[in-house]
Amino acid sequence: MTNDASPKAAKKLFIKTYGCQMNVYDSQRMAEAMGAEGYVLTEDQAEADMVLLNTCHIREKAAEKLYSDLGRLKPLKSEKPDLKIGVAGCVAQAEGEEIVRRMPLVDLVVGPQTYHRLPAMLRGEAPAILTEFPAEDKFDHLPARQATRRAPAAFLTVQEGCDKFCAFCVVPYTRGAEVSRPVDRILREARDLVGRGVREITLLGQNVNGWHGEGPDGREWGFGRLIRALADTAGLDRIRYTTSHPNDMADDLIEAHGAVPQLMPYLHLPVQSGSDRILKAMNRRHTATQYLRLIERIRAARPDIMLTSDFIVGFPGETDQDHADTLRLIEEVGFGTAFSFKYSPRPGTPAYERAEVDGALADARLQELQALLTRQQKAAQEGMVGRTLGVLFEKPGRLPGQMVGKSDYLHSVFVEAPEAQVGDLVQVRIVESAPNSLHGELVA
Ligand code: 5AD
Ligand code: SF4
Repeated sequence: MTNDASPKAAKKLFIKTYGCQMNVYDSQRMAEAMGAEGYVLTEDQAEADMVLLNTCHIREKAAEKLYSDLGRLKPLKSEKPDLKIGVAGCVAQAEGEEIVRRMPLVDLVVGPQTYHRLPAMLRGEAPAILTEFPAEDKFDHLPARQATRRAPAAFLTVQEGCDKFCAFCVVPYTRGAEVSRPVDRILREARDLVGRGVREITLLGQNVNGWHGEGPDGREWGFGRLIRALADTAGLDRIRYTTSHPNDMADDLIEAHGAVPQLMPYLHLPVQSGSDRILKAMNRRHTATQYLRLIERIRAARPDIMLTSDFIVGFPGETDQDHADTLRLIEEVGFGTAFSFKYSPRPGTPAYERAEVDGALADARLQELQALLTRQQKAAQEGMVGRTLGVLFEKPGRLPGQMVGKSDYLHSVFVEAPEAQVGDLVQVRIVESAPNSLHGELVA
């Protein structure tokens, strides 16, 4: 964010981000848009002139969090009547003016596709509630990427929205239809980021591997081709992407995992369930066996790849047998880590009206599944001990002379490296596995 306004004159913006990495990216872009208006970011909500809550609607709990946080803002708003409070993101999109009705202290409500208009909204030149899906592309109206803070790893949105309509999911409604950003914009944003010291880019999209677009060669490119083009960006050492759908793992993308050294050996590929009955009821449009065969092909291309996934337990109609099938799939794949959630019925989705699994039973299944995933995560981490891996230093560690960064497999690694700087990409021999991190030594 630019800091050309004098510190005294600058207004302060506090952003709280809920939910996924796309929201983290959107928050950065909103900070940049507000930076052009003279706002600087603050980490202290109490000194803010504007508080922006960038929300998540994926599960009921995530959405309710907004209202409890807004309730807690009431004293601050009474103390500072000029304080502007904005709600952005997927709850804003889904609930619109209902938010202001329930919480009149909210000044602005802005959906994920309209946040480029935030400055105009603030100036009163645009409606205070904006949740349409405009024909214009917000990225064309946002300031160029700026260094919010010196960080060697960055996100880059290449695709938004989802046409898959899984029966449990609000994303197709809150984020809209699948849209791919054009190749030239993506390559330009990547070059801008690298020019600012970024060495690792995570490509983002709700259905990122469904990305497609016309290449500079006039041909239709798929996501694998885009990754190859990005890999030609000098200075870009690492590429990752998230989140993918199994049905969009095209051949050229699988091949890229074997052929592109910058593409990290890590893939998040949500499967949600290991039961064909439940996969069908979820409208996932693939079977457990198809997922397993796909994993085999990916591992053939990149044998050392680490796989992660998402699971939902207690989806309507899930029996003990369905749950056992999910556990078996997990055993068969062996995940590096995974996210697992108890099913949360979301208004407006096809599964909303369906009879729910008993809550206590779903809790018990979730515990059992998480215990298995925790064992696999531990095994995956322990399997790193003795290996030499790349680590990109992101910040100083807790101890003097220590640095912490991410390994090729996205594990946090602590390294004694008094001479090193943030942004160094070094070779590290892993010596120890702690519960949520690894410890390693610099390889000379
Ligand atoms: N209930 C529980 N989990 C959900 N997810 C999406 N919708 C729901 C829901 N209604 C999970 C899925 C998805 C992840 C981002 O959130 O596992 O992959
Ligand atoms: Fe939601 Fe399914 Fe689309 Fe993922 S693929 S965003 S779970 S509808």
